Amino acid sequence: MNNTSCLRTQYDSCLLPIYAPPQPVLVRGQGSRVWDENDKEYVDFGGGIAVLSLGHAPPILTAAISEQAGRLLHTSNLHVNDAAVHLAQKLVEETFAARSFLCNSGAEANEAAIKLARHHGCSIQSEKYHVLAFENSFHGRVGMAMAATGQQKIRNGFGPLTPGMRFAPFNDLAATAAMMDDDVCGIIVEPVQGEGGVVPAANGFLAGLRDLADRHKALLIFDEIQSGAGRTGHLYNYMETHVTPDVLTTAKGLGGGFPVAAMLVSEAAAAGFPVGAHGSTYGGNPLAARAALAVLGEILKDDFLEGVKKRENLFCDKLEELNNEFNCFSDIRHKGCLIGIDMAEGWTVKTVVATALDEGLIVITAGQNTLRLAPALNISVEDIDAGFARLRRALQILRI
Ligand SMILES: Cc1ncc(COP(=O)(O)O)c(C=O)c1O
Repeated sequence: MNNTSCLRTQYDSCLLPIYAPPQPVLVRGQGSRVWDENDKEYVDFGGGIAVLSLGHAPPILTAAISEQAGRLLHTSNLHVNDAAVHLAQKLVEETFAARSFLCNSGAEANEAAIKLARHHGCSIQSEKYHVLAFENSFHGRVGMAMAATGQQKIRNGFGPLTPGMRFAPFNDLAATAAMMDDDVCGIIVEPVQGEGGVVPAANGFLAGLRDLADRHKALLIFDEIQSGAGRTGHLYNYMETHVTPDVLTTAKGLGGGFPVAAMLVSEAAAAGFPVGAHGSTYGGNPLAARAALAVLGEILKDDFLEGVKKRENLFCDKLEELNNEFNCFSDIRHKGCLIGIDMAEGWTVKTVVATALDEGLIVITAGQNTLRLAPALNISVEDIDAGFARLRRALQILRI
């Protein structure tokens, strides 16, 4: 029996059916190429949803993980481990933050951020626990992060969610100001909405939120889980906007494929969050911390972030070429190597994704009818060319 069908059948029978992946079962990767168990090769423009900052199996990351695995795998937070301290120190050195909380996933980092904001608000007055979030946002699939996600399809069907969440229209400062009050403890916003379709904050929007947060003594939380760790051509996107948050959450690309996340906090925002207020068994795990340190070490090398912007330009030029030939895109939005492409009328993103996969290219979706590209930040020109040749073939097959 064909091994692929066997494993894929087992997937369908033994995993909770919460995803609907295509047929290939991926078994190995190298750089921006990945292979399934029939040895079919794919160019990866999806990057594991903006996670594989350095591509598949980057030697620097695998070496760091292997070395650490043989030295110290876990301690818990009952004791201090060296790798966690080095990572926290690095994050503090490179950003606005004075302190960081290390954890495992994006949702967990946002959970911590909302908890911190509510603790901050409730210490001012008991009703100051409301969180202002945005329509079309995505902050995670559990607890308060899910409750703060501005998409009904993510929130519905689970009974009452955490109360106190308000949703303002993204990029509409006047409407946001109208919903802001002294009972709000925090504003949570993605500087670039990722799942919502790769929509960057409009000029002045984040500065306006900064001002609103200050006027109402609320914390400004930037969710940079997708836009962070070099993805937009800056270590964090707030650095481009020149608006500094009180709290920033980071995950995905931070570990380059290893599950690790962090909440970064200014000294003022950290004040008053006492011993016992929060925790996580695996938070600050040495293996995860070493992985993140290896990734940051690469991203912070001279010219790396410049390289992300060069790749952004290359991707955009090639997308324009395809659009000239096929008239298939109605809008292209981009911040570094995070690119959202609205399909033109008559084109369906799902069929583009499926046909591209048949042709040996992994691309992903976002928003309504948006194609999303989030490749490795160090993807080679050769792999970009190969991926676009495959995307072109897919569009040719689907030409209308
Ligand atoms: C902006 C943003 N926040 C939070 C999350 C949740 O991260 P995780 O899936 O690691 O919990 C995601 C994941 O896509 C995200 O893009």
